Amino acid sequence: MESKHQIEIERKYLVDLVGELPQPVVSDILQTYLLSDDGSVRRVRRRCGVLPDDRPRFFYTAKRRIAYDRSFEHEEEIDEARYTRLLAERDPQRGTVHKQRIVFSYRDQCFELDRFVSPALDHCLLEIEGAESADQVSLPPFLRVVADVTGSSDYSNANIALRVPQGFQLQEQVSLLPFNTFGIDALARRFAVLHSVDDYRSLLRSQLLSQMPFFVLGGGSNVVFTGDYQGLVVHPANRGIRLLDQRDGFCFVEAQAGEKWDDFVRYCIAFGWHGLENMVAIPGCVGAAPVQNVGAYGREAKDVIHRVHAFDIATGLERWFDASECGFAYRWSRFKGDLKNRYLIDRVVFRLESAFRPLLSYKALAAALAAGGNDSPSAAEVAAAVSSMRDSKLPDPKVIGSAGSFFKNPVVPLSQAQQLLHDYPSLVSFPVDARHTKLAAGWLIEQCGWKGRDQGRVGVYEKQALVLVNRGGCNGSEVRALADRIADDVRSRFGVSLECEAIFV
Ligand code: EPU
Repeated sequence: MESKHQIEIERKYLVDLVGELPQPVVSDILQTYLLSDDGSVRRVRRRCGVLPDDRPRFFYTAKRRIAYDRSFEHEEEIDEARYTRLLAERDPQRGTVHKQRIVFSYRDQCFELDRFVSPALDHCLLEIEGAESADQVSLPPFLRVVADVTGSSDYSNANIALRVPQGFQLQEQVSLLPFNTFGIDALARRFAVLHSVDDYRSLLRSQLLSQMPFFVLGGGSNVVFTGDYQGLVVHPANRGIRLLDQRDGFCFVEAQAGEKWDDFVRYCIAFGWHGLENMVAIPGCVGAAPVQNVGAYGREAKDVIHRVHAFDIATGLERWFDASECGFAYRWSRFKGDLKNRYLIDRVVFRLESAFRPLLSYKALAAALAAGGNDSPSAAEVAAAVSSMRDSKLPDPKVIGSAGSFFKNPVVPLSQAQQLLHDYPSLVSFPVDARHTKLAAGWLIEQCGWKGRDQGRVGVYEKQALVLVNRGGCNGSEVRALADRIADDVRSRFGVSLECEAIFV
C-alpha cells in the first residue's frame, strides 16, 4: 500500500467545461473529515473507479498548511476495516463530501478536476499540483476559467465539507425570487429541497404531499408565480451524472433530476457522449426535461431519453417509465397530462451516441456553421454555434428576467396554414405531418406589432417576439395581462390561438 510525505504546492481554479476532454479517467470519491487536536486537517477517503469491476481503495491523509498555497501532507493507503474504524472519529460539523474526480493530461501536465456532487458547486474545481505559479501552466482550451481560487478558504475541501446538506428539511416562508428566471418575488409557504434519493423517500414517507397542494420547481425557467404559493414547493437538487453502459454504439448516461441541464449537456460533450449538443444552454434542470419534452435547434429531449425513474406520490413506490410510455409530443408528455402530480421524477437515463453525427436540420444552425466555413463541425463547435445563436436572440436570465419562449408554436390544420400563407406570403411555418403545420408564434406576434413593446413592467423582447421579459419588479398578474392581450391580438388578426408554454402558478 502507498504512503507518502511531501510538500504540496497547488493552484486551484473554478472552471467550466467547454469542449471535449482528452481521455479522461473518472473516479468517485467520498471524503470524510476527522476530528483533530493538533491543528492538522485529517481525512479519510474512499476512491473508486466508475466501471462496474472497479474496486474501492481507501486512504488516510493528514495535512498541515504551511503557506497560503502549500501544505505538508502525509497520505497512506489503508484497508477497509481501518477506514471504517476511522469514520467513528468523524468531525460532526462536516458532512461527507461526494465528488467525481476527473484526471487527464494536457501538454505533459496532469490535471485533476473535481466535480462536486454533494455539496453541489456551480463550477468544477481544478487543482494543479507542483506548479509554482499560473504562468508555468498552460490551461487547456476546453476549460473556461471562472476564477483563480488558490489559497481561498471557501474552496478548501475541509470548508466545502461544512456546506454538505444535512438531510431533508422543511422550510417556511421561503422567497422564490432566486428560484424563478422571470425574477418574480413571491413566497412559498413551505419549501423542501431534495438533495438525495433518500430525501425523496423521506418526503414521501412524511405524507406532506397528500396533505397540501404542492408544486415541483426545478430550475424555475418556465414558471410565472401569480402570488405567494400557499402549499409546498418541492425543489429537486440532487446531483450526479454517470455512465451506466456502453454498447452497440450507444452510451447510456444517468443524470439526477437536480442537475442543471446545461451542465449536463456540457459534461456529456466533454466525455464524448453525443446527441445533446443542439440543446446546450437551455435553462432549467434535468428532471424537467422529460416533463415538457424540452427542445431546441432540431433536437427534442424525447430523441435522447431512454427511461425516466420516478416515485409514485400516493404509494411511495418507485418505477421506471420507458420513453415509449411517456407520451412525448411537442413540449408535452404524460407527466403534464394524466400523470400530473402523481409522480416525482428523481433521475433520467439518456441514450447517447458514441460517434458524433452533427444534426443540422435546423436551417439557421446549418447556415451559421456554413457561414463560418465549417462543413464537419465537432460536437463542441455545434454547441458553440447554438450557444451564440441563443445569445443573439434570447435574454440571459441572469440579466433580464424571462421564461424563454412564452408561447408554444401553434399547430394548425394544413388548410388553415395554406390560407394564411396565401394571405401572408412571408408567414414562417414548419411541416408537422400530412394534415398539420406549425406556425412560428414569434412571427405572428411580431406582425401584430408587439416586438420590443412594453406594457408597464412587462415587455416583449426586442430580439425575439416569443419571449416576454421582466422590465423590473413585475408581478405575475402583469405578465398574464400582457400574455392575454398578445393572444387576443393574434387571434383576431390571424384566427390562431396561442397556448402558453410557461405555466402560471
Ligand atoms: N420569428 C419572427 N419574429 C420573431 C421571432 C421569430 O419572425 O420575433 C420567426 C423567424 O422567421 C424565425 C422563426 O420565427 O426564423 C423561428 O424562430 P426561432 O428560431 O427563434 O425559434 P422559435 O420557433 O421562435 C423555438 C423554441 C425555442 C427554441 C428555438 C430554436 C418553442 C416554443 N420555442 O422558438 O425554445 O430555442 O425554437 O429551436 O418551440 C423555449 O422553449 O424556451 C425556447 C427558447
